[in-house]
Amino acid sequence: MSAERRDGDSLEKVAEEVRKCTLCPLCKSRTHAVPGEGNPRAKLMFIGEGPGYHEDRQGRPFVGAAGSFLNEMLSSVGLEREDVFITNVVKCRPPQNRDPQPAEIQACSRYLERQVQMIDPAVIVTLGRHSMAKYFPNERISKIHGQPRRIGGRTVVPLLHPAAALHKPELKQTELEDFARLPKILEEALARQSGEDDEGSQEMDQLKLF
Ligand code: URA
Ligand code: SF4
Repeated sequence: MSAERRDGDSLEKVAEEVRKCTLCPLCKSRTHAVPGEGNPRAKLMFIGEGPGYHEDRQGRPFVGAAGSFLNEMLSSVGLEREDVFITNVVKCRPPQNRDPQPAEIQACSRYLERQVQMIDPAVIVTLGRHSMAKYFPNERISKIHGQPRRIGGRTVVPLLHPAAALHKPELKQTELEDFARLPKILEEALARQSGEDDEGSQEMDQLKLF
């Protein structure tokens, strides 16, 4: 459970709003909206594409075959789902698992943005090209996957979607290798953050002298 913020917003509130949301046409075909789940203070946040069949049935992200592979990759770097936060760019399942449309992603972004703001992760990992496009609008995932970049005071790492390895087994090794870099990337992002905090407090100390 996350503490309620001073402005009264909370992850639970976002989830409640998502479950009732009718802001885009995906609300009509959903069984359950999938707000996302995990550690409210996660340092690593994963953003996938949208719920599939099993996610729509259960109201939970990444619980089907792609989810099993994501779990496997997490445990390959010593992480469990409870350590991270997992959500999607659209919270309701697109019919027949079609790609989410730009207007749907746009409508749903208000929820994702609040989640990112409240969790405040040091590292955001995008899974697949639709969530990549939020941070890297004109890039090709085949070219930039696995390469961290600083965006707005955070590190963002675009990864291939775990389902890609299910369709093309030759991608599995690439996905595992990209994933294996995450602990180091996280460590560097955290070191950088605490460096910035120290700088901030030094500046405060200096200001106090005047
Ligand atoms: N694929 C996604 O992008 N998200 C899920 O939650 C499940 C499968
Ligand atoms: Fe609302 Fe997002 Fe679901 Fe569309 S996908 S109905 S914007 S929660």
